[in-house]
Amino acid sequence: MTSEALVTVDTAALRHNIGVLRSAVGSAAVMAVVKANAYGHGVEGAARAFEDAGVDWLGVVDLTEAAALRAAGVSVPILAWLHAPGETFERAVQHDITPAVSDLAQLEACAVAGVPAVHLCIDTGLSRNGAIESEWGALFDRAAELADSVRVEGLMSHLSNASPQEDGHQMAAFVRATGMLIERGITPPLQHLAASAAALSYGSSRITMVRLGLAAYGLSPFDDRTSKDLGLRPSLTLTVPVIGLKKVAAGEGTSYGFTWRATHDTTLALLPIGYADGIQRVASNNAHVLVGRRLCPVVGRIAMNAMTVDLGGAGDADGVGDSVAIGDQAVLFGDPEAGHPPVDAWARETGTINYEVVARLSSRLPRRYV
Ligand SMILES: Cc1ncc(COP(=O)(O)O)c(C=O)c1O
Repeated sequence: MTSEALVTVDTAALRHNIGVLRSAVGSAAVMAVVKANAYGHGVEGAARAFEDAGVDWLGVVDLTEAAALRAAGVSVPILAWLHAPGETFERAVQHDITPAVSDLAQLEACAVAGVPAVHLCIDTGLSRNGAIESEWGALFDRAAELADSVRVEGLMSHLSNASPQEDGHQMAAFVRATGMLIERGITPPLQHLAASAAALSYGSSRITMVRLGLAAYGLSPFDDRTSKDLGLRPSLTLTVPVIGLKKVAAGEGTSYGFTWRATHDTTLALLPIGYADGIQRVASNNAHVLVGRRLCPVVGRIAMNAMTVDLGGAGDADGVGDSVAIGDQAVLFGDPEAGHPPVDAWARETGTINYEVVARLSSRLPRRYV
């Protein structure tokens, strides 16, 4: 019996998802996005599984995440796209990391550091990182001047997913930018702006590479389609053992502030997981956990390291208070095909998106790869 919460990651599911997505995107190269501790899946284990699955690239936010992957022995090409002010890019050279550069200063710094290849990151309307359209001319001119020392291997942008029309405008802007680069004698082999949603929605968004995060982990980026609808398998399961059972009488409360009181005699299970582990406090009195084949409501406030769920009393038709034992495993979320509650249900109950539910799982939680 383990006394700890555990994140189990099914590496066969990760490989399956890459296979399904590769067939869906045709000839485009596939980048698996492993930023944010691989969306909570644990970056080293997930990166290794994606490498085994034959992805062409891994994508992370910054050079620190990329360097950690190299230290773990990952050898597939890695792209990093957000950089601190004044970044010198020496780490990129040292660890063989490809930076995506958003402005002239970053491009110049790459040239000085001796970075052999970059991707140019352009803003086609998202208004986050990337050079805006009025800056493209100067950035591309300088990239052409530096071509002998810094190769432009890629052109990158990111979509808003606001609507097909707005994504269409961004894609048209990307085509304009590509044309401007070609006029300057640069045809970047890797042209990419699609993440999971666009890659699965618009053929024209795939160009020569797609950057897949959520879908690679088997989760759906769409409100109206499940993982199963997309042929994907959620790879992460969060389990936690029941470490305490307590009978409470009608009127008794649980946890800070007694935000929940029993309406009738019932049994509560204590689970050793809380907001310090990345479980949002807003799940208090909102979310459900699978214990002994019953979806049991989380009752009372989620604490830093603990939460309680109501197993039901003798009078509850589906109560499991009498059959659950200390050491039984509760499942917060996992693969619905395995009978587990979906991450999407937890997201709905807590007013957020599946991305946030998995990405916020603390890196302190142990991960097991099966
Ligand atoms: C630049 C960039 N590309 C790709 C992705 C992957 O997105 P998704 O998880 O929707 O596939 C992200 C994630 O937010 C991103 O920031």
